[in-house]
Amino acid sequence: MLRVQYRRYGGPAVMELAEFKQIEPGHSQIRVTVKAASANPVDWKIRNGSAQVLTGWKFPRGMGMDFAGTVEAVGSGVTQFKAGDEVFGAMEMRDCATFADSLVTGIKSTALKPQSLSFENAAALPVVGATAWIGLVEKAELKAGQSIFVAGCMGGVGRAVVQIARSFGANVAGSCSASNFDEARKLGVSTVVDYRNFDAGGFRGKFDLVYDTHGDLSLKQCRDMLNSGGVVIHIAPDILTMSAILLSAKHQLVFGQPTPEILEKLGTLAVDGRLVSAIGKVVGLCEAISALTELEKSGTPKGKLIITP
Ligand SMILES: NC(=O)c1ccc[n+]([C@@H]2O[C@H](COP(=O)([O-])OP(=O)(O)OC[C@H]3O[C@@H](n4cnc5c(N)ncnc54)[C@H](OP(=O)(O)O)[C@@H]3O)[C@@H](O)[C@H]2O)c1
Repeated sequence: MLRVQYRRYGGPAVMELAEFKQIEPGHSQIRVTVKAASANPVDWKIRNGSAQVLTGWKFPRGMGMDFAGTVEAVGSGVTQFKAGDEVFGAMEMRDCATFADSLVTGIKSTALKPQSLSFENAAALPVVGATAWIGLVEKAELKAGQSIFVAGCMGGVGRAVVQIARSFGANVAGSCSASNFDEARKLGVSTVVDYRNFDAGGFRGKFDLVYDTHGDLSLKQCRDMLNSGGVVIHIAPDILTMSAILLSAKHQLVFGQPTPEILEKLGTLAVDGRLVSAIGKVVGLCEAISALTELEKSGTPKGKLIITP
């Protein structure tokens, strides 16, 4: 078996493509033949060592959380899946390794893939879709007719937030690079501004919900934009924002680990055409390291990077 892995935490140079021996699935685990995986910024944050407390010091470690593939074998206690099922989901941070021919994962973040959804499109959904869903539906309890501002509306999470919010009947405004304005409008963002010269004062008191996908909005900017009952969803907070999250219910933190129920909802939205993933590039495992390095350095994805073994 082949996978992208690393033997110590560090920058892009620590990644290597290496043979590995796959294990048998244990209790409540399944082994999956990977058909497609997608990249998220969290993949290189983990590899850089930013989450060492959670990910530990056992090496070599694989890379990648999002996957779609076919169940090859099931461990004891697994009744939800059987060999041959097409599934999609996200591995947990601790032992993630989806940029590979094969993976063994628990089933807490796995669901059956809708048949009409391609493996590539299914693999693009779990982390960004769950992050959007949890923020909008579980934390903010978004309702039809509400107004939402999405900072970073054309990133992986941003696009999912825009489309899920629109599917709930919300009015969506957002920020992105000027070069993405047309695409943002097509996605349903009615008012689009450039985050490089953004004046929150122009939106005073306008929003029920501010969803900050990039962590660049100041607490004052958030406060200015919210109406009296409004909330802010954070997914990449700095230390100052973390303290606001701890002190005020107005500021909510999202951790985007999907449940099977959320994956089913995302699958349904995708099949209905209400949640369309932008796929930027599809590469094989042999080109994965150079594609990941390029994406990490640029920081401006034009859609998801998909790795197909
Ligand atoms: N808490 C969680 O569970 C969780 C889950 C998923 C992601 N995250 C984190 O959330 C962040 C976004 O993830 P992603 O998958 O959406 O990343 P992504 O697909 O790489 O998108 C990043 C987007 O950020 C936009 N951007 C750059 N600078 C900005 C600024 N100053 N203000 C607003 N937007 C800006 C870019 O927009 P343009 O392309 O228009 O320039 C780009 O499209 C990452 O830090 C990631 O690690 C956290």
